[in-house]
Amino acid sequence: MPKPSARSQAAPASPIRRLYPLAVEANKRGKKVYHLNIGQPDIPTPQAFMQGVRQARIEVLDYAPSPGISEAVEAMVRYYADHGLQVAKEEILITIGGSEGITFALSIACDPGDHVLVPEPFYPNYLGYARLTNVEITPITTHRKDGFHLPPRQEIEGLITPRTKAILFSHPGNPTGVVYTPAELEMLVALALKHDLFIISDEVYREFVYDGVHKSLLSFPEVRDRVILVDSISKRLSACGARVGALVSHNKEVMAAALKCATIRLSAPTFEQLGLVAFMADPNHKKVVEEMIGEYKVRRDLFCRELLAIPGVTFRVPEGAFYVMMGLPVDDAEAFIRWMLTDYPGPETVMLAPGAGFYRTEGCGKDEARAAYVLKTEDLKRACSVLAEGLRLYARAAAPAGRG
Ligand SMILES: Cc1ncc(COP(=O)(O)O)c(C=O)c1O
Repeated sequence: MPKPSARSQAAPASPIRRLYPLAVEANKRGKKVYHLNIGQPDIPTPQAFMQGVRQARIEVLDYAPSPGISEAVEAMVRYYADHGLQVAKEEILITIGGSEGITFALSIACDPGDHVLVPEPFYPNYLGYARLTNVEITPITTHRKDGFHLPPRQEIEGLITPRTKAILFSHPGNPTGVVYTPAELEMLVALALKHDLFIISDEVYREFVYDGVHKSLLSFPEVRDRVILVDSISKRLSACGARVGALVSHNKEVMAAALKCATIRLSAPTFEQLGLVAFMADPNHKKVVEEMIGEYKVRRDLFCRELLAIPGVTFRVPEGAFYVMMGLPVDDAEAFIRWMLTDYPGPETVMLAPGAGFYRTEGCGKDEARAAYVLKTEDLKRACSVLAEGLRLYARAAAPAGRG
C-alpha cells in the first residue's frame, strides 16, 4: 500500500482544534462549552456583504479571473487608500483567504530548505504553511512578561544565516495581541535592508487595535520592494467562511510570481468577492467596522478585568487582535484544558487553546493558554468565573492528600 508522504504526516494538527473531540463529548453529556479556544468571531457578517452575495446575478458560475474579479480588486484599492496606502490594481491579488496569501508569500520568498524568521508564539498554521512549502521556521522567542514585544536587535541578528530569506509575523499578533511600536517596526525594516530579507507582514487584524496605532509595513518606503502584505476579510468582516483575502506587493517580480501561483489554483470564490464589492459600495461600511472594533474593545477590557481577578493567572493587557495569551498556575496547561472538558463538574465549562502549540521551541508555553474573546460580554464574564472555579478545583485535586 502506498503511504502518505512524511511531509504530509509532519504537518502539525492545529492546537486550536486538536482537543475539539473532547468538547463534542462534553456537549453530548449536556454541558455548555464556552469556546474561547478559536478565533471565530460571533458578530454577524455585515448585511451589505450578505446582500451582495444573495443578489448576485450569475447564470454560469464560471472561473473568476485568477488575480481576482476586477471590481473586487478595485474595492481593495479603495480600502487601502482609506488607510492612507497607495496601492495600484496590479499590486493586489485576491487570494483564497490570508492562508493562501501566506503560502504564496512563502513560496515566492523562499526556495525549499530556506529559512524564515518568525516571532514566537505564532499562529500555528504558519508551521503548516512552512511544511507544505518546505520552508524552515527559525523562531524568535518573545515573552509574556514583555507583552510579547520583540527582543533586542542583536538577538534577532544572531539567528540570521545565509539561508534566511524572510521574516514573517502577524501584526497585530495572534496569539499575542501585540502591536509593534514604530521603533520595533523600524528595527525590522533595518534588519531586512541589512540582511536582504523579504518582510511578510500578515495584517489580517489591521483594524483590531485598542491602544496605540497600527502602522502597516506597506508604509515604509525604504522596503517598498521587500514587503509582501497578506490580508483577509475573515476577521474584519466577520466572514471567515468567505475565503477571500489578498496578497499585496509593490515589487513587480513578486506580483508576477504571485500571479503564476494564482493561475495554478485558477480562481478565488466568486460569490464572496461580489459580497466584498457590495460591502465596499455601502456608504456605511467604515462605520460598520468601527462599531465592531468598539465592541471588541469593550470585550477586551471586560475580559482582562475578569482575568486579573483570577489568582495565579498572568498576562499583559494585549494592544490588539482578539486574543489573550496567559500564564496559568499549573505545570501543564494542556492537561488542565483537557480536565476542564472531561472532569470539571457542573453544567458548563470553558475551552482554551494550549499554549505550547504556538511555539516552535520545545518546552516553551507549557504553562500558557490562549483565549479568544469572541463571545458576548455576559458569556465572557461567565466563562471567567468557570475558569476561576476550574483552577481552584484542579489545584485541590492535584494537592497531596492531607493538604488544603
Ligand atoms: C494571524 C492569522 N493569519 C492568517 C489567518 C488565516 O486567515 P484566513 O481565514 O483569511 O485564511 C488567521 C486566522 O485565524 C490568523 O489568525
